[in-house]
Amino acid sequence: MRTIAYDQQGDAAQVLSLREEPAPPAPDAGQVVVRVLSRPIHPGDLIAVEGLRGGPLQRYAVPRSPGVEGAGVIEAVGEGVEGLRAGQRVAFFPVPGAWSELVTAPAELVVPVPEGVSAETAALMLVNPLTLLTLLRAVDDARHGEGGPVVQTAAGSSMGRLVGAAALMHGFPLVNLVRSAAGAQALRERFPRLPTISTADPDWRTQARDAIGGRGAQVVLDAVGGSLTGDLVALLADSGTLITYGGLGSGSTPVESLGLVPRELTVRGASVGRWLTRTTEQRAEDVAFATRMAETAPELLEVAATYDLADFAEAIAHARRPGKSGTVLLTSPAPRE
Ligand SMILES: NC(=O)c1ccc[n+]([C@@H]2O[C@H](COP(=O)([O-])OP(=O)(O)OC[C@H]3O[C@@H](n4cnc5c(N)ncnc54)[C@H](OP(=O)(O)O)[C@@H]3O)[C@@H](O)[C@H]2O)c1
Repeated sequence: MRTIAYDQQGDAAQVLSLREEPAPPAPDAGQVVVRVLSRPIHPGDLIAVEGLRGGPLQRYAVPRSPGVEGAGVIEAVGEGVEGLRAGQRVAFFPVPGAWSELVTAPAELVVPVPEGVSAETAALMLVNPLTLLTLLRAVDDARHGEGGPVVQTAAGSSMGRLVGAAALMHGFPLVNLVRSAAGAQALRERFPRLPTISTADPDWRTQARDAIGGRGAQVVLDAVGGSLTGDLVALLADSGTLITYGGLGSGSTPVESLGLVPRELTVRGASVGRWLTRTTEQRAEDVAFATRMAETAPELLEVAATYDLADFAEAIAHARRPGKSGTVLLTSPAPRE
């Protein structure tokens, strides 16, 4: 089988290579082997290869194949697995090595793909919807049942647009921040009812304060961080919360400069990486939500482009291109009947 793998952490364009590896052995009890036909390139996949700014140098054992999400068909079923059969279309998360053509997965992390959901949508069915639920829970906790305004950064990202759609559906006041005038225009066309501001405008801080109104934002949901953090905290009302869930920006902001103590502010993280700590019942509810979204609102799981696994370098360059809309997929040909 083909796999993309690396032996040493570093620039993804340099350290990743296409390899031929033996197929995995027959699945153990409680496992299935999935032939992966499509998998996304998430920002987090590249962070895992390259290392997080300020994080531990090498988090995973190598050689390693990136990716934790994908979709395909079941190739083999281990003993004791119920409700899954060979040939069935499935999606999976979190299963390491999704950038390979075959993965062995615990059956409990494998989800049947409903008929009518495309292969592309199936590949995006789990991580981003489950992250959305994680973020909405964090926002709910931070708002203590009050109706204060929420600000989000990187609002044109795949995640940002899910948050935008959720704000309209649940009726919470949201102000969108993006980094360019073109990005702001595109997002205003998509969400005409949400105020959207470009941080490239010299007066963006004033525009944002006007759009938030009142005492300030109750919550800032931030995927950028770095040197923007001070400006974001300045938009918060006293006792507000900054929820950080990504590190797209550059630079850094010392925590001492944020005025956390006199203003009684909270800074917290949120990560879908902790989703497995939810109970089996809670996870089943979350997966039902994600599956419903794939069935009823596939436009929220937008694909930017698809590339064959062998063209991973071009695919990664596309995934990093400014102004891209949606998520880039790496695909493998379906086996012949
Ligand atoms: N914590 C979690 O569990 C979790 C889970 C999923 C995703 N995430 C994070 O969520 C973020 C978005 O992921 P995604 O998959 O939705 O991304 P995506 O669809 O690939 O979009 C990336 C977006 O980030 C914007 N961007 C890139 N660099 C920026 C910067 N320096 N300043 C401001 N905006 C910038 C881009 O804006 P342009 O349009 O201007 O290029 C684009 O809109 C990432 O940070 C990712 O790591 C976290």
